Amino acid sequence: MKIAMVGSGYVGLVSGACFADFGHDVVCIDKDQSKIDRLHNGIMPIYEPGLDALVESNVKAGRLSFTTSLAEGIKDASAIFIAVGTPSRRGDGHADLSFVYAVAKEVGENLANDAVVVTKSTVPVGTGDEVERIIADTRTSHKVSVVSNPEFLREGAAIADFKRPDRIVIGAEDEFGREVMHEVYRPLFLNESPILFTSRRTSELIKYAANAFLATKITFINEMADLCEKVGADIQDVSRGIGMDNRIGPKFLHAGPGYGGSCFPKDTLALLKTAEDYDSPTRIVEAVVKVNDSRKRAMGRKVLDALGGADAARGKKVALLGLTFKPNTDDMRDSPSIAVAQTLHDAGVEVSAYDPEGMEQAKPMMPFVTMCENPYEAIEGADATVIVTEWDAFRALDLGKVKELAKSPVLVDLRNIYTPADVRAAGFEYSSVGRT
Ligand code: UDX
Repeated sequence: MKIAMVGSGYVGLVSGACFADFGHDVVCIDKDQSKIDRLHNGIMPIYEPGLDALVESNVKAGRLSFTTSLAEGIKDASAIFIAVGTPSRRGDGHADLSFVYAVAKEVGENLANDAVVVTKSTVPVGTGDEVERIIADTRTSHKVSVVSNPEFLREGAAIADFKRPDRIVIGAEDEFGREVMHEVYRPLFLNESPILFTSRRTSELIKYAANAFLATKITFINEMADLCEKVGADIQDVSRGIGMDNRIGPKFLHAGPGYGGSCFPKDTLALLKTAEDYDSPTRIVEAVVKVNDSRKRAMGRKVLDALGGADAARGKKVALLGLTFKPNTDDMRDSPSIAVAQTLHDAGVEVSAYDPEGMEQAKPMMPFVTMCENPYEAIEGADATVIVTEWDAFRALDLGKVKELAKSPVLVDLRNIYTPADVRAAGFEYSSVGRT
């Protein structure tokens, strides 16, 4: 089967490469000539473990190609995926759908055969209806079915998530759409991955509901962590204790500095907007967004506390280990490190940092931070060392060396990757999240 993937960003490229690996003939399309040129040369526009090798082997096998021409790319394709960005529209938090609609129009104008048009981008409820209208307005003579097929890929684990999904959700309104999507995912049907066929609007809402629920779970455990600190309880045991209940489940109960990334912050805001538009407020999600936002700055204040308070902190130096919103990505979008670094800078603290992949992207967001070659260079002369992101590289720091290089042995662990007793036994003043 031939598949066209319009948009070769994170979702488009991972999905395109995985579909090709299933044996489909895939063309990835992007307007950005330099991105396509780089892909032709095997250079990935994003950091995702395993993606370069997957792209290379499928290009070599002749199943994956790249082009800037939409008309050429969609020719003979039975399924045309729209995987372009839907950023938060400036000012109001609504998802900006102009890229999705522009692609829909171009697809309609250039269609040379019957096809299923699939929205993979995260789009608000009703977008599929609009895509259908836009394509109909182009007066194409070909049969088109518009389908919703949201992605649930985690950055850093996207290929595994694509190939071994918890579920696949397909929102289709007619038999043609269902049949083609059945064929697209046939390799996964054989693996017995659960597939849920539903209506298009339901499928669109499932994506937002899933992300909002996960964001709520994280925010809930973060507030419980704050309470643990006050009452002298241990958040990790609380997470274990509630997670063993099958109705709750153990995942996404890891307390930390607040969620960030390309999905949760944007999608929760977009869901709030949809709820407002339909006069059906989602107050829980409203609270989650507010609590998570203020948490990131609160983490900066937690570091100031470890330095003896805002007044004592002025003129001191802090080393941040990890800047990306989570490990195994170079993505800095809405990372808690941005608020932490800013809070420290505003308080007159000198900040140095090291991140294995994110420093290039981080630089313009925190121009006042000195980026270092490795964790130990960042720690040199620091009055406090802060673990902001749980990269593996920080899980087994040489604590003796840290103590030697730092000005003071103060460790603030915002990801709870160390055991308090061990770090204290090594002579550190140690604070973490939800543990005393
Ligand atoms: C998320 C969803 O998991 C994915 O299904 C969706 O398609 C896109 O959004 P991603 O943003 O890549 O994926 O990262 P994820 O691993 O879900 O983490 C999101 C944020 O939550 C990170 O900032 C992470 O540090 C935080 N988090 C996650 C916690 O603080 N605690 C947890 O227990 C889990």
